[in-house]
Amino acid sequence: MNLKNTVSLVTGASQGLGKAFAEALLKKGAKVVISDINHVQGAITKAEFDQKYGTSQTTFISCDVTSQSQLKDLFSKTLQKFGKLDILCNNAGINNENSWEETISVNLVALVQANYLALEHMRCDHGGKGGSIVNVASMSSFLPAAHAPVYTASKHGVLGFTRSLAEASRLGNYGIRINALCPGFVNTPILDTINHEETLGMFYQFKDTVKHLMDVFGILEPSIIADGFIQLVEDDSLNGAAMKITKSKGIHFENY
Ligand SMILES: NC(=O)c1ccc[n+]([C@@H]2O[C@H](COP(=O)([O-])OP(=O)(O)OC[C@H]3O[C@@H](n4cnc5c(N)ncnc54)[C@H](O)[C@@H]3O)[C@@H](O)[C@H]2O)c1
Repeated sequence: MNLKNTVSLVTGASQGLGKAFAEALLKKGAKVVISDINHVQGAITKAEFDQKYGTSQTTFISCDVTSQSQLKDLFSKTLQKFGKLDILCNNAGINNENSWEETISVNLVALVQANYLALEHMRCDHGGKGGSIVNVASMSSFLPAAHAPVYTASKHGVLGFTRSLAEASRLGNYGIRINALCPGFVNTPILDTINHEETLGMFYQFKDTVKHLMDVFGILEPSIIADGFIQLVEDDSLNGAAMKITKSKGIHFENY
């Protein structure tokens, strides 16, 4: 897919990986809807992008992805603003073992809902023009993690859902490529959640175990994850792929 003049929607894009994905798309000439529950940081990011890429290339739309009505509005407003939707990146995510139901709601339930809303607009077999969806999973989609059982479950869920929906898309000729991005530890604010009992809950006692894992596996920078993201969006041969990104092996794929 040539990204020039395409329209993308990225959730959780005020900071961290979502912001890096939005900027990578802007560099390719795409128009980007930056969406996040954090509208204060969203306005700062929008202003930064305005300076670099021009005011017409982005819009910020505040949305809590766990609200069905806000999520629906997000898609309607995206279409109102830019007239189409080619790429969706479901990136919004949290790591909170204390509020574990919220973790499932943000990381998995909302992601499923956003995929289904995107299908409504994109499906070629329903009059749409096709497109590309990237669901942000994690290396936690493959490995156990004592400090984060529910986060891990949510990311296993994202991978299984993504691969299955990709298969449905292939068999049903939806014309939509749906792929999972599975990074290791990345230098973003979410990593700070391991330092707090209010986020790790009863698994706070394992915080040193995860710090040890970070030392062993290393911490990636968002720019390499953005490179992988762009590859998933641009490469028309990829559907149902699980792209892993680790410090030791860089960008590579899980072989099934
Ligand atoms: N950083 C890592 O080590 C790492 C590794 C693998 C996967 N991931 C995944 O990458 C994604 C992005 O995380 P990040 O590392 O940039 O963390 P981050 O905390 O910097 O960014 C997450 C963003 O999601 C937003 N968000 C949270 N709840 C939301 C909601 N209900 N509605 C809308 N937006 C909401 C936050 O405001 C924030 O801007 C997440 O899905 C995360 O699980 C991160």
